[in-house]
Amino acid sequence: MCQRSFLFLGILLIAVIGSQAETVPCKLRNVDNGKVCVCSEDHCDYLENPTLEDVNEFAIVSSSKQGLRFATLGGEFQKDEKYTVADYEESEATKSNLTEEVSKFDVIALLVEKATAFLELAEDSQKNSRASSITRSVTLSVDRSKQHQKIVGFGGSFTGAVSYLTDQYPQKLQDHLYESFYAADGLGFNLMRISIGGCDFDLGPWAYNEQPEGDATLSAMEELDDRDVLRVAQIKRLIEVSGIENLRIKAAAWSAPPWMKTNNRWTGFGRLKREYYQAWADYHIKWLELMEKNGLPIWAISTGNEPLNGIFFMYFVRFMSMGWTPQKQAVWLDEHLGPTLRSSKFKDIVLFGNDDQRWSFPHWFKMMNHTRPHSIDYLDGLSVHWYWDEIFGPSLMDETNDYLPDKIRIVSESCIGDKPWQKSAPLLGSWERGEKYARSFLQNLQHGLHGWIDWNIILDEIGGPNYVDNTVDAPVIANTTTFEEFYKQPMFYAMGHFSKFVPEGSVRIDAIASNVNLNTVAFERPDGQIAAVLFNSGRADLDITVVDSVRGTLIINVPPKSIHTLLYS
Ligand SMILES: *[C@@H]1O[C@H](CO)[C@@H](O)[C@H](O)[C@H]1NC(C)=O
Ligand SMILES: *[C@@H]1O[C@H](CO)[C@@H](O)[C@H](O)[C@H]1NC(C)=O
Ligand SMILES: *[C@@H]1O[C@H](CO)[C@@H](O)[C@H](O)[C@H]1NC(C)=O
Repeated sequence: MCQRSFLFLGILLIAVIGSQAETVPCKLRNVDNGKVCVCSEDHCDYLENPTLEDVNEFAIVSSSKQGLRFATLGGEFQKDEKYTVADYEESEATKSNLTEEVSKFDVIALLVEKATAFLELAEDSQKNSRASSITRSVTLSVDRSKQHQKIVGFGGSFTGAVSYLTDQYPQKLQDHLYESFYAADGLGFNLMRISIGGCDFDLGPWAYNEQPEGDATLSAMEELDDRDVLRVAQIKRLIEVSGIENLRIKAAAWSAPPWMKTNNRWTGFGRLKREYYQAWADYHIKWLELMEKNGLPIWAISTGNEPLNGIFFMYFVRFMSMGWTPQKQAVWLDEHLGPTLRSSKFKDIVLFGNDDQRWSFPHWFKMMNHTRPHSIDYLDGLSVHWYWDEIFGPSLMDETNDYLPDKIRIVSESCIGDKPWQKSAPLLGSWERGEKYARSFLQNLQHGLHGWIDWNIILDEIGGPNYVDNTVDAPVIANTTTFEEFYKQPMFYAMGHFSKFVPEGSVRIDAIASNVNLNTVAFERPDGQIAAVLFNSGRADLDITVVDSVRGTLIINVPPKSIHTLLYS
């Protein structure tokens, strides 16, 4: 199959081919609900980061419903021309019978469309049965003097399910999975979330020191559990093969061992027994020690995953959970976890609060502060799960920002398929789910969030394994029939349009679109370059006039249903 997207590799990238990183095009496959990129032992797609040689140069990296996946085009600002990101065209690819090998080296010069050529393109798109679409236009004003939040980063989660699935792949494919997410040629992730003990994406519920019961000294917590021995080895391998220098791992416990809980069960209406408040703080310190001893330093922990599951939602949530009210958690934090952590060798661990849905923000923290006025001073960050974002608007994030402006705010869990009305199994190839990610990343970043950690980096074809069948979608889906391939979903690229080009330390800057045809957010990176994410969710192509307060003007036409990252100096 010809990778048309590859044809856009422009002059810009040719100039860059000096370094050892390499660009490999996506092997696109039509599947039930759209298109995926297929990775096998001998082929997996990567994109070397575009570099700019001249101050007027730009690069634009594009993905589209029709099949572009990180296609790259380059050009210059202030040229009296309109640039066009041409969409992937499957028909031509099939017609021409080009093999991948051929297309890989068939690099053509960048495509510059003058205004007249553009008319032909418009006709072209009519032929493609988009007769009703009329090119729309928008002006994007970028002002780097107006600075907002600083980015902490982006990442995914290494759950028990991820560990179990990954372990069944040959080493080369395991490495492709790790590099696809964490290498600079991959998505450039720098954050990761793991569970302390088990979570629902495990083969069964588990915690440290399940036995002996009633043992507040945690005498059985001297070594890593076998499941963590495997997971730690895998994450170390991930660090090695991806070349990541500063992986930041954030951890959270889903539940204490049942004997510490009021209902002596993994799930249901259960809270921590008062007499074990200190033991539960010690449990966190002991786990940090175990990780350190085994060579995997931890960046952050939270006060516990989704505390409201065990208070309000026990009839729906069947997986391991432990309930907290904000009042009780304030006491635990103020008298136990906070002082224990801050007086330990792990005093610099970043501590996140809440780790639950947006609708509890910022009320949760106000209630905590009401119960124990300085309990929230122990928190460095606030982490939020995205699951009800469509119902509870971003103003709750703005209120949180106003209430606690100095805390790091990140999304710590997201995935699609958790709701009864969503088809819970993965939808292979769904562009719509990729769009949903793009829209949500844009909204949260526009409202001051500093980072995002997605849920499982890989799941099987039915969206598991999950020990209570709480199956969902993931950015990569495994082939568990053969373990010879895995599939990168559109969601993978949607996240990459942010994570790959917006490194830690980037600062959001003003980027204002003149109308709703463009959804956008822009950043000034530590290297001084501007990265602007451009999302055209419309059915028509879109002329974007970028007006930068320093660099000047650029006109670029992007296809329908497409997402881009524009880079320039
Ligand atoms: C593509 O392959 C088909 C079937 O093998 C063949 O009939 C056709 O002529 C080929 N087209 C080109 C342009 O080579
Ligand atoms: C927390 O409560 C104390 C005591 O009422 C108050 O002085 C402080 O301003 C509150 N903190 C915040 C962030 O509102
Ligand atoms: C997994 O691989 C097998 C064998 O090649 C194939 O039949 C099956 O369709 C693949 N599964 C998916 C989800 O593509």
